[in-house]
Amino acid sequence: MTFDTIIRGGTVATASDTFRSDVGISAGRITTLGLDLGAARQVIDATDRLVLPGGIDSHVHISQPNAPGIVMADNFESGTRAAAFGGNTMVLPFCLQERGQSLRQAVRDYHAKADGNCYVDVSFHLIISDPTEQVLGQDLPALIKDGYTSFKVFMTYEDLALSDRQILEVMSVARETGALVMVHAENFDAIRFLTDRLERAGKTAPHFHGTSRPIPVEREATHRAIALAELIDVPVMIVHVSNREAMEEIRRAQQRGLKVFGETCPQYLVLTEKDMEGLNMEGAKYVCSPPPRDAASQVACWEGLLHGVFSVFSSDHCPFRYDESGKLAPRGRTSFRWVPNGIPGIETRLPILFSEGVSKGRIDLNRFVALSATNHAKTYGLYPRKGTIAVGSDADIAIWDPKREVTISQQILHHGADYTPYEGLRVTGWPMTTLVRGEVIVSDGALAGSKDHGQHLARDISSFAPPSRPE
Ligand code: URP
Ligand code: ZN
Ligand code: ZN
Repeated sequence: MTFDTIIRGGTVATASDTFRSDVGISAGRITTLGLDLGAARQVIDATDRLVLPGGIDSHVHISQPNAPGIVMADNFESGTRAAAFGGNTMVLPFCLQERGQSLRQAVRDYHAKADGNCYVDVSFHLIISDPTEQVLGQDLPALIKDGYTSFKVFMTYEDLALSDRQILEVMSVARETGALVMVHAENFDAIRFLTDRLERAGKTAPHFHGTSRPIPVEREATHRAIALAELIDVPVMIVHVSNREAMEEIRRAQQRGLKVFGETCPQYLVLTEKDMEGLNMEGAKYVCSPPPRDAASQVACWEGLLHGVFSVFSSDHCPFRYDESGKLAPRGRTSFRWVPNGIPGIETRLPILFSEGVSKGRIDLNRFVALSATNHAKTYGLYPRKGTIAVGSDADIAIWDPKREVTISQQILHHGADYTPYEGLRVTGWPMTTLVRGEVIVSDGALAGSKDHGQHLARDISSFAPPSRPE
């Protein structure tokens, strides 16, 4: 048998095992694992390298509409290219329904932006900002059936926040359909109150963004989101958790047997609120929500990753340029309130987790694979097609040089932002080659694929969180 591709001489790791094996690939799938596989049209030498499931980044924002005059720094072409350079083979961007907009139209709009422009595979989550009768009764159930099996609700932000009642209503749709609800958990009223008070005191610089949304704001909303999910008996994912108190809410719920899942992100492992204290507007480069906290919160997030409170590690890539189109938009200079929330991180998520986690001995390689790929696939209905190295799975593979030392800098990245919040961070371990369904997209650090290779995938319901069906 002649394979399309053999990856030869590497060490394969999955979420459970690490072993020496070559990987035989045909027609975009992994067809054989073993040694001495024979002939192939293409042989990739992986000697001294790790052969890992391609990363799945299940929380990214690409080409998402923002306030007037503000544009996101990445479209699908640049965002998915950067993802591939960062060792990812699939991303799950959000499809935002703007208030007053039909949910189906929002999905059509996102497809128009993404289709034919992706280097890696994609699958959209929905964001429900306007849960009308049409959305709850028709559009959302139909879209879930069509494979958009997860959606996010916000407890904060002027144009996005849902009331508790609305959250209960959309959770009820998830209960009926098996969709997974993702929650942005911050108390909107508390943030508005604190923001108004800070502004009245003239405290408008970017670092007051952190002061306006302290830990209790996140802890309270996390507790409330879990309580609402418990009322409806529906699984829920608390996204971008930044600190111990919110993490403990999730842990307690998990110990009570609730299907509550947690996600954390690189910014909560390596940034702190001090980063927002830069001179002039520099701190705006780090403004995201929830904000980075302190060293103790970083330790807590590592504990959550190690002990499984957090099952997924995502980037929450939400890129804006440090210019008038983004972080320095005129209104943002008047108050932190108007600085667009979000930071770039699609390309640096995995090197940071690998270096700070595996290379520094905080987590083992198998947990790295689980947190970076396998659990995303299981959580969002893609497993076992995606997220593992197994016969029959898509040949979505990242080949890593575990010893390569890199200093992260804007110069070496491929995203559309003009800065990285991780400038100067030294990492050990870097993804060199990325294959998506057997096609080489990045080859030893150079672009090799094309922007029409990535496909949008319909998803099953979560295999981690099937709803408990009423008798
Ligand atoms: O600041 C952030 N995280 N912006 C992205 C939007 C969100 O809430 O995920
Ligand atoms: Zn959010
Ligand atoms: Zn986000």
